[in-house]
Amino acid sequence: QNNLFQQQQPAAVLPELKDPNVINLPIDRARIRGAAMRQPSEITSYSYDEDRTIHNDESSLGYLYLLKEDLATQNGYNLSDGFDRFIKRDESVDEHLDGLLIALINHEKEHGGKKTVADVVTWRGLLTKLMCLPFERQGDATFELNATYFDGQIFIEESSEYKRSHPEREYDRMELMAYWGYKFEQIATIPKPWGQCTRDEIEKRTQKPVNNNVQYCSVVKSGLGNIRIIIGGEVDCAKDYKPDKSDNPDNDPTLNDNPLDHYVELKTNQIISHDNGARNFERKLLRVWAQSFLLGVPKVIVGFRTREGYLQTFEEFSTHKIPAMIKQSKFFNPHTSWDGNEAIAFLAACLQWLKTSIPQEENGDIWKIRYIARSDYLLLMKAPQGQASFLHPDFVKWRK
Ligand code: A3P
Ligand code: MG
Ligand code: MG
Repeated sequence: QNNLFQQQQPAAVLPELKDPNVINLPIDRARIRGAAMRQPSEITSYSYDEDRTIHNDESSLGYLYLLKEDLATQNGYNLSDGFDRFIKRDESVDEHLDGLLIALINHEKEHGGKKTVADVVTWRGLLTKLMCLPFERQGDATFELNATYFDGQIFIEESSEYKRSHPEREYDRMELMAYWGYKFEQIATIPKPWGQCTRDEIEKRTQKPVNNNVQYCSVVKSGLGNIRIIIGGEVDCAKDYKPDKSDNPDNDPTLNDNPLDHYVELKTNQIISHDNGARNFERKLLRVWAQSFLLGVPKVIVGFRTREGYLQTFEEFSTHKIPAMIKQSKFFNPHTSWDGNEAIAFLAACLQWLKTSIPQEENGDIWKIRYIARSDYLLLMKAPQGQASFLHPDFVKWRK
């Protein structure tokens, strides 16, 4: 395993590789094959409301309500409806790991102060990014993550300085397309389980402005190889209901009624009408699969829309069947298609690399994990001294 992480021949494109202070991970070779992924289990969950205030409950969880009949109008459902009233989350606010860490504090306080231990604590979105790197490098943009060792764990956040920027020209259309995704979530969900919703609540659900401050997040415990991970991520809805916590106080994942089994990921995609569309969709399924797999979300529902944003139909996919679907597809190409096991093996190597490379010293150091678009390496380097911690002060105080 050792030579897996050694410095490779420097490539001319990345001057960083010549810097002795930069540790690199070669994306093509770094694999821990056969690293087992532990079945995730939910530790806790929480909600953001319309004002982005955090609540230690499941008030923002939506429940699936999607009928083919509702879409059977002439053109389908116009996902652009209400775009002029879109209440958009202020993305200039850097939330770091706040929601996740606050959820951990609340959970630990409710359990007599017992700490939830792991090796790595992070958002699902950034593990998805890492996991997809072996297959998505061509068009992918540069990104940077911050990591810090504290209280026996490595915390990883996305660095706000490096957030993706889109070309000005495409901006309006991309805003609208992002809105379609949120509008789909609105029309596909109701605020309470079906039996508890009034007809009015069901009928009027699409009349409220779409507000993407509202989110429901699950915090799960999982493991990859010998790395224990705590992952926070958004869950779009429950297919029917969420089992009561008191029915499974120890979060036993083998119990029949485990909350994760009820969760559903919602996505939109353009209707597939030609081979290229099918190829693009299969490529996109890598991210969709990875994101759902990491949180243990078993079901994905894809709403298919026209190029102009009219939702016409939807289809359900079982998360665990997606990798095999890719292998069996008529577009499968062993050189270019993605492979779920390889993605997992890369993520395992990546986490192992971080765990062995970041010194287990609680000195407040911040480490930068950097990927430069179209390069073959992940880079790790210490940030200049004096960078403030990105951990929520309440969490630092709580764990000290
Ligand atoms: P779709 O991907 O279904 O179009 P998620 O699917 O992860 O729950 O995200 C919900 C929606 O947020 C997406 O719906 C998309 O509209 C929007 N979204 C997510 N990530 C985005 C990104 N990086 N850029 C723009 N929009 C994004
Ligand atoms: Mg979502
Ligand atoms: Mg979604």
